[in-house]
Amino acid sequence: MARKLLLLKIPSFAWNMLLPVATDFFLSVLNCPPESYDLIVWNIELKNGTNCHISYMSKNDTTERNCTENMNWLSRPDQRPDLRIQSPQLFSEGTYKCSVVTINGTFSYETFLSILVPPKVSLTHSINKTAVCKAAASKPAATISWDPPGHSANVEETFLNDMYTVTSRYHYTSTSEDEVSCSIFHPAWNESRVLKISFGNTN
Ligand SMILES: *[C@@H]1O[C@H](CO)[C@@H](O)[C@H](O)[C@H]1NC(C)=O
Ligand SMILES: *[C@@H]1O[C@H](CO)[C@@H](O)[C@H](O)[C@H]1NC(C)=O
Ligand SMILES: *[C@@H]1O[C@H](CO)[C@@H](O)[C@H](O)[C@H]1NC(C)=O
Ligand SMILES: *[C@@H]1O[C@H](CO)[C@@H](O)[C@H](O)[C@H]1NC(C)=O
Ligand SMILES: *[C@@H]1O[C@H](CO)[C@@H](O)[C@H](O)[C@H]1NC(C)=O
Ligand SMILES: *[C@@H]1O[C@H](CO)[C@@H](O)[C@H](O)[C@H]1NC(C)=O
Repeated sequence: MARKLLLLKIPSFAWNMLLPVATDFFLSVLNCPPESYDLIVWNIELKNGTNCHISYMSKNDTTERNCTENMNWLSRPDQRPDLRIQSPQLFSEGTYKCSVVTINGTFSYETFLSILVPPKVSLTHSINKTAVCKAAASKPAATISWDPPGHSANVEETFLNDMYTVTSRYHYTSTSEDEVSCSIFHPAWNESRVLKISFGNTN
């Protein structure tokens, strides 16, 4: 399944990074400002209610953690405070907060991690001039529109983990055109995908 990651800022001083990668296995990096610190703590609150933390104290060079193995330091925590998430999944969504204790005080940065899953798209037609455009299994739901605009009806279904399938049926009536196209837009994409179908001379 192709996925895309979007890390949205919450407070104005938040620090984040956008890393869209379209492969099954990928890595996401959450940045924390590279200051010189005595203590760094990542506090993670997953959307499903699980909390965990990873911390590093420079005084005695000690890491403490109770997060799962897929979350860890990107490199040595005495050199970089960044957190890596190996293969982020839908359940990786949540709030990731890093706090650094420096000689100048304590600073916190918060990142909300939201996962986008693009849909699988298809356009088919039946003999009575009904075209069916489908955007399956995406997060969030895709938007479908038709050209030329005509009589259409959209049905949206939700299933586990906030995944959506949108099906749009277009009833073709005009006699002047024999081709229609559906445009599918999803936030995981740069631009809309356009699928075309020709009804031909079926009457
Ligand atoms: C503390 O603040 C001073 C002055 O703003 C700055 O030069 C120094 O780098 C800061 N130290 C840390 C550890 O952030
Ligand atoms: C939440 O997701 C994490 C990561 O998969 C998992 O370890 C934890 O058991 C889940 N918690 C609940 C309450 O489902
Ligand atoms: C990690 O420890 C904190 C308390 O320090 C606790 O609230 C949290 O539930 C723990 N998380 C896990 C996944 O054990
Ligand atoms: C490191 O220091 C902290 C605070 O002084 C202490 O809680 C922790 O147990 C120490 N860890 C080790 C491995 O000595
Ligand atoms: C013909 O169109 C109607 C909607 O007007 C649709 O409900 C029906 O399933 C279609 N028939 C076929 C054979 O595709
Ligand atoms: C976004 O679209 C532009 C132009 O259409 C393209 O050059 C760029 O590579 C696209 N970026 C991604 C991440 O697909």
